[in-house]
Amino acid sequence: MEFKQGNDNQAVNSARVVVCGASSELGQDICQRLSNNGYSLLLLGRNLALLEQIRGTLPGEHQVAQVDLNEPDSLTEHIIANATAHGPFQGAVQCAGVHQMTPLRSTCYADFERMFRINTGGALALLQAFTRKKVRAAGAPTSVVLLSSVSQSQAEPAVSGYAASKAAMAALCRSAALELAKDQVLVNCIAAGMIKTPLNNGYAEVAAEAISAIENKHPLGFGQPGDISDAVLYLLQQNRWSTGSTLYVDGGFSCRA
Ligand SMILES: NC(=O)c1ccc[n+]([C@@H]2O[C@H](COP(=O)([O-])OP(=O)(O)OC[C@H]3O[C@@H](n4cnc5c(N)ncnc54)[C@H](OP(=O)(O)O)[C@@H]3O)[C@@H](O)[C@H]2O)c1
Repeated sequence: MEFKQGNDNQAVNSARVVVCGASSELGQDICQRLSNNGYSLLLLGRNLALLEQIRGTLPGEHQVAQVDLNEPDSLTEHIIANATAHGPFQGAVQCAGVHQMTPLRSTCYADFERMFRINTGGALALLQAFTRKKVRAAGAPTSVVLLSSVSQSQAEPAVSGYAASKAAMAALCRSAALELAKDQVLVNCIAAGMIKTPLNNGYAEVAAEAISAIENKHPLGFGQPGDISDAVLYLLQQNRWSTGSTLYVDGGFSCRA
């Protein structure tokens, strides 16, 4: 299958791609960008009505299905069942995630575990589906993109559970990349800087100053969802020699490390 650098509104391929967390603010933009570039999507999330609504805005043919990452194994099962019934996938994007701002003193293990289950467990479950031959399209490498965060390497207070889950996701990415290279599955992370979405409402709740302090740490200011969609499209289309890497898309946030 021929992949070209995609211009929006120009269908260049009909490869199938799983988008888990398609209802997220970033996921919706990613779905728009990928469908504009001719990809056929399987949109996954908990809110079926919202997924149907998003599907209605996308050009092309797409499927939706309900998955709750509180049971990560159900994601693996859904992807395998869908590939068996409708054909294999050329790529996948994991953008479901939860974030919580809690000082260490009041962080409880249940919240910590929830962030690991959904953020890291979701990524693991997605990757596990791609260990199955029937899930991967033959004849070209498969590209899996995990949405991580600058929190994986840049410290901020009161986000220890989230940061730890995203750092674990990057470690998972590297190990999976080694294990799946023989199967031509490329696994990469995007470490995103802050894009104002419902995910980080917690900062505004703590204090308005917290938001402007974080904005000041982004030399190019806060990002837009399209900045992440650009990177996702690039990682899906590069299909030969990048694997196990983390691409920082963060307006310069991590330059000071
Ligand atoms: N926004 C940022 O600044 C930023 C920065 C760095 C990284 N990221 C990462 O980018 C990804 C998307 O972020 P966003 O800002 O677009 O988030 P968002 O708008 O808050 O959306 C969160 C997504 O996670 C899904 N989700 C939550 N719990 C779930 C569960 N139990 N099972 C299945 N899906 C579940 C939600 O689906 P439902 O509709 O089912 O609730 C929703 O699609 C996250 O992984 C986040 O960590 C975001």
